[in-house]
Amino acid sequence: MNHIIMCGDTLELIKQIPPESIDLLVTSPPYWAKRVYNNGEDEIGSEETPEAYVSRLADFFDKMRPYLKPSANVFINVGDTYFGSGAGAWSKYIDEEGNITQAQKERKEKFFTTKPLQPKIKQNGKLYQNKQLLLIPSRFAIEMQERGWLLRDDIIWHKPNRIPASVTDRFNNTYEHVFHFVLKKKYFFNLDAVKVMGANGKMKNPGDVWSINTQPLNGNHTATFPEKLVEQIVLCGSPDGGTVFDPFLGTGTTWVVCERLGRRCIGFEINQEYFDFAQQRFQESVGGRND
Ligand SMILES: C[S@@+](CC[C@H](N)C(=O)[O-])C[C@H]1O[C@@H](n2cnc3c(N)ncnc32)[C@H](O)[C@@H]1O
Repeated sequence: MNHIIMCGDTLELIKQIPPESIDLLVTSPPYWAKRVYNNGEDEIGSEETPEAYVSRLADFFDKMRPYLKPSANVFINVGDTYFGSGAGAWSKYIDEEGNITQAQKERKEKFFTTKPLQPKIKQNGKLYQNKQLLLIPSRFAIEMQERGWLLRDDIIWHKPNRIPASVTDRFNNTYEHVFHFVLKKKYFFNLDAVKVMGANGKMKNPGDVWSINTQPLNGNHTATFPEKLVEQIVLCGSPDGGTVFDPFLGTGTTWVVCERLGRRCIGFEINQEYFDFAQQRFQESVGGRND
């Protein structure tokens, strides 16, 4: 397959792609106030408020719109966060005694936000109060609707292997949203490609709750798509031999899946280390083909 994989800022690189050439956009953008991917300065996810993040993310996808075929599908996985959680991820890096080891600390400092982003917003006792689940995915989906995108599904990606969190006053979060947007009422969709066997022996619609384990990769990559999730989306959302675009390629999951399923992948990634990792992963997955 003649894939186009480049390292750089998607907002610049996309200008090299012909208009109306993409069948399917599938991606997971940086979440708000979670990780540092590109030095932390003014990168997507580092905005001071959820509102600024949602608006910038919607601006980003509006800029991708001219490159989509009118029949295209867009699947976007966006994560949520709690106000005042200090961007969370420390709990993943504590040892059995509850201490953060030096190696874990360095990893966190390199890959997660160290700046206290959320406390910059004053608590207001309403939306902005500690422990508040911010509903960022819903706010994003509504913003996209306001801008004219047609929302077809709010798919729940349930993660059966999610490690229990240490929280004691709420339930452990075990799912994320994957929004399915289209541009027009008539669009490409191959439901047959993803039907599952029903209890009556007939093939049926798989429904909008997908139980798929997270898939850890080697190295410092913690926010990767499981290949199964992308496979399901590529199969129903793009024709055989079609063009699939991931504007936040990360470790190259979409690229690897596209090669396997006979789709052409366009993928852009701003972080050189992730880009190199994706190259290596792709080579390993296909035994050296990269044409
Ligand atoms: C959540 S990760 C994507 C993970 C990916 N789905 C995978 O399976 O590995 C988001 C990625 O977007 C990249 N990124 C952020 N801003 C970007 C931009 N403006 N252009 C290109 N890539 C960007 C980050 O470096 C990061 O690797």
